[in-house]
Amino acid sequence: MRVLGIETSCDETAAAVYDTASGLLGHCLYSQASVHAEHGGVVPELASRDHVRKLLPLIREALEQADSPLESIDGIAYTRGPGLLGALLVGGSVARGLAMSRGIPALGVHHMEGHLLAPMLEEPPPAFPFVALLVSGGHTMLVDVAGTGRYEVLGESVDDAAGEAFDKTAQLLDLGYPGGPALARLAEDGDPERFRLPRPMTDRAGLDFSFSGLKTAVLHAVRDAGDDPQTRADIARGFEEAVVDVLTIKCRRALEKSGCRRLVVAGGVGANTRLRERMAAMADELEVEVHYPRIAFCTDNAAMIAYAGAQRLAAGEGTCGAAEVDGRARWPLTELRPPGM
Ligand code: KG4
Ligand code: ZN
Repeated sequence: MRVLGIETSCDETAAAVYDTASGLLGHCLYSQASVHAEHGGVVPELASRDHVRKLLPLIREALEQADSPLESIDGIAYTRGPGLLGALLVGGSVARGLAMSRGIPALGVHHMEGHLLAPMLEEPPPAFPFVALLVSGGHTMLVDVAGTGRYEVLGESVDDAAGEAFDKTAQLLDLGYPGGPALARLAEDGDPERFRLPRPMTDRAGLDFSFSGLKTAVLHAVRDAGDDPQTRADIARGFEEAVVDVLTIKCRRALEKSGCRRLVVAGGVGANTRLRERMAAMADELEVEVHYPRIAFCTDNAAMIAYAGAQRLAAGEGTCGAAEVDGRARWPLTELRPPGM
């Protein structure tokens, strides 16, 4: 089965083609970062408008890359949520319209299921079961994954997501938007010992996270220590160390609690080099396998949506005809069921 995937949940417009027999055939992406940069964050209305402008040309490009005319596509998967509602509706409408014109099924995919299954596009893919750490701009959660659609949330952030904390801290350090990668670059020149920031919620049992307090700690550090270039780099490093420490501690706990031998780290923050180094060391010690998507598939992309959608479309999910376009700004991962059920 050949599936066209469409992603428009936030500020990346993306299209991809995945074939259940031959794998990923094409994928392309347009980042709206420059559109939102001058506003210091994503402006939902601008995001929707830019998706409208860019989505059809990107779909054409992905189909060409995959050498797959629209006539060869058997189903269309689009991100239904969670995300910005207006942005989701752009992808959903285009997907439903195209599917209807071809008489093929369209299916709304859960964005976080896409992130969670993204490592399946790599060699070797992780086998089930695994523990997944999902760390994106909107979510931070630990999930026990027994199979596709069989998810138990072990813990999640009670306030900011890890990526959000990176972005807000980057803003405090005047690093612009998007802040995560810029903050990670600045941290490379920083001294990890100079600022010892808090590791929230690691001193008690449990697998939930909290990152909002770190922002305040950074604010105080900037106020008290000044903002010469070296100090800023040291603060960035101290912040990154704290987040990476918290994520590593909680992953270790989740692995020990579940007895699982495989860990998947996915979502935008999964691109962070320091996080990968620390996870590798922990996994070595626990004799656990760690799987990541390639860097380009840690952040938002359509390949993961095409893959997740293909699992479900192949099991008979999806609807043909003029089904209502149904974006969901919020959508608990635990509402999902195994494909076809
Ligand atoms: O998964 P994603 O593209 O979008 C959401 O679904 O939210 O994640 C984006 C987040 C942003 O907060 C961004 O700052 C963060 O991932 N991010 C990083 C890095 N690359 C992206 N955070 C830390 N280090 C990075 N290298
Ligand atoms: Zn995402």
